[in-house]
Amino acid sequence: MKTKIFYFSGTGNSLWVARKIAAALEEAEIVPMVRELEAAKADNTEIVAKAEKVGLVFPVYAWGAPGIVVSFLKKLSGEGIDYCFAAVTCGGSQGGTLLQTQRLLKEQGIELQTGFAVKLPSNYIITNGAKSMEAQQKMFAKAEQRLDKMLPLIRDNQKHGVEKEFFLINALGGVVYSLFMRSPDKARYLWSDVKCNGCGICARVCPTGNITIGEKNKPVWERNCEQCLACLQWCPTKSIQYKHSTQYRRRYHHPEVTAEEIAHRGDIRGSEVAQSTDQKPDGQKSAQEGSLKRFRTLKIKRPIKPIK
Ligand SMILES: Cc1cc2nc3c(=O)[nH]c(=O)nc-3n(C[C@H](O)[C@H](O)[C@H](O)COP(=O)(O)O)c2cc1C
Repeated sequence: MKTKIFYFSGTGNSLWVARKIAAALEEAEIVPMVRELEAAKADNTEIVAKAEKVGLVFPVYAWGAPGIVVSFLKKLSGEGIDYCFAAVTCGGSQGGTLLQTQRLLKEQGIELQTGFAVKLPSNYIITNGAKSMEAQQKMFAKAEQRLDKMLPLIRDNQKHGVEKEFFLINALGGVVYSLFMRSPDKARYLWSDVKCNGCGICARVCPTGNITIGEKNKPVWERNCEQCLACLQWCPTKSIQYKHSTQYRRRYHHPEVTAEEIAHRGDIRGSEVAQSTDQKPDGQKSAQEGSLKRFRTLKIKRPIKPIK
């Protein structure tokens, strides 16, 4: 059974989970949601998975799905999908994310047979810095155990149902989520301090192409931010801040994921490059070729250095 796992990830947790799931399944391909969404928007078409088994892996934002994931789900066609599962990553509580995902998929005529949450270190530096390395290691070990339990269910197309939180969390979560989603400019408190050397990594890891390196050799944020915090968390000089609260907080990204891999999730834009990926058996290689095309399309005002 052909499997496609669509993922969105700012700091690598969800990409890590998507990879773990893919490694346990036969014929599984992992595909960045951003790439599919941009191609579908450009061509004004639905997203057709072209796979019988479809997985969705993404982080929880304010007890719900990130806006970009909602847009993806609203364009996903049910055509040819026999089994659908979702794995959401979160630092503590998924709130109503899986129920929301189930509802959005139902509107598309897709049944979410299995939905589960995987707790991983939180990247939400706006309220707290990252946990100690020891605490992170414990979370990774628990997440592996959780995946070991869930993977056989997914492999055998079992209907596990969708995990739910305590009903009060769902109710409160709805309010928190709608306030978060209503914020029109989620990048408005992001800025770069004197340590910024204009390397442009922030622009490369941004899933929405919302960052340009301006005349002053500093990042400039526009108004299309998901608040994934990739720019802040991957900044090699720790110069990107959110208000003034983040300067002394420990930063986080998944240790087994690189900035280059995160940048590649949204690299391929437009049907032309997407076609070239379909033709190649080695998707990674194509993604890299595509990335070069994408970065040429970003409004970078000066050349950016490669990510080391
Ligand atoms: C804007 C934002 C909101 C978040 N809200 C929640 C939340 O409601 N509950 C939670 O447990 N974690 C929350 N987190 C933490 C992330 O869900 C968690 O770190 C996730 O694994 C990050 O995935 P990624 O590394 O694939 O981007 C939030 C993170 C961000 C950036």
